[in-house]
Amino acid sequence: MEIIEINNAVASVKIALQGAHIFHYQRKGEEPLLWLSDTSDFEYGKAIRGGVPICWPSFGMNNPELPQHGFARTAKFVHVETKEIDESTTEVTLKLTHSKETLLIWAYQFDLELKVSISDTLTMELKTTNKDSRSFTITQALHTYFSVSDILHVEIKGLDKKPYLDALTNKQCLQNGDIVFRNEVDRVYQEVDSEIVLKDKNRTVNIKNEGSSSAVVWNPWIEKGSRMSGMKADAYKQFVCIESANAFEDFVVLEPNESHTLKATIY
Ligand code: BG6
Repeated sequence: MEIIEINNAVASVKIALQGAHIFHYQRKGEEPLLWLSDTSDFEYGKAIRGGVPICWPSFGMNNPELPQHGFARTAKFVHVETKEIDESTTEVTLKLTHSKETLLIWAYQFDLELKVSISDTLTMELKTTNKDSRSFTITQALHTYFSVSDILHVEIKGLDKKPYLDALTNKQCLQNGDIVFRNEVDRVYQEVDSEIVLKDKNRTVNIKNEGSSSAVVWNPWIEKGSRMSGMKADAYKQFVCIESANAFEDFVVLEPNESHTLKATIY
């Protein structure tokens, strides 16, 4: 699989052209921040299990006419440029445009650009531009898999009192306190307007989202984890997904020539 590797003074990253999929990010002297399944298929047509899959132009089954999480995660992006801003900051830009294949499954002309900034912070900007003559609606996510010491040690802060859709029961609920994991969690938080903090035993990660008011928190736990493609049955212990999203009611409508940027800053 074609990949881009960046190694600057403070961090390293690996990005597959398929899906503009960041599957490794690590600060010098630290453990990798992103989880990558050691049994993931690195195969064209299958999404890598781990890293940051791009769910676009539909999150989950928000658009039931499209495959789960859309088609961008298995589409081949073009490498536009790599810029060395300074010895500690590198910027990589990748792009996907409509093609005969995409028009067959989603009948709109578009530009989708991912700009990744690699320093001691990982920044991802996903910009959608409507190149069609009609408006279109998207839902999307930067579906980040964070590597954790043990899911039992994880606490997620910053979502207290936020409403969420529990995807396991299809019910609307209200978050009470921090999120901990003792069974399967699959939730779409709404009205998210502040940073999310992932607290692990020896590490704290901050996630700042812009152009977004929804965030997905997901861990498949034992039963679903054992049925999932590209990962071992007990891999659920090693990661948590905190996804920077425009999902469900937080959809985006773009008129011709309009753009929208979903930005996640992880530090
Ligand atoms: C999450 C969904 O965003 O992605 C989960 O909320 C889903 O329900 C998970 O299981 C993984 O999806 P996939 O298609 O990569 O197996």
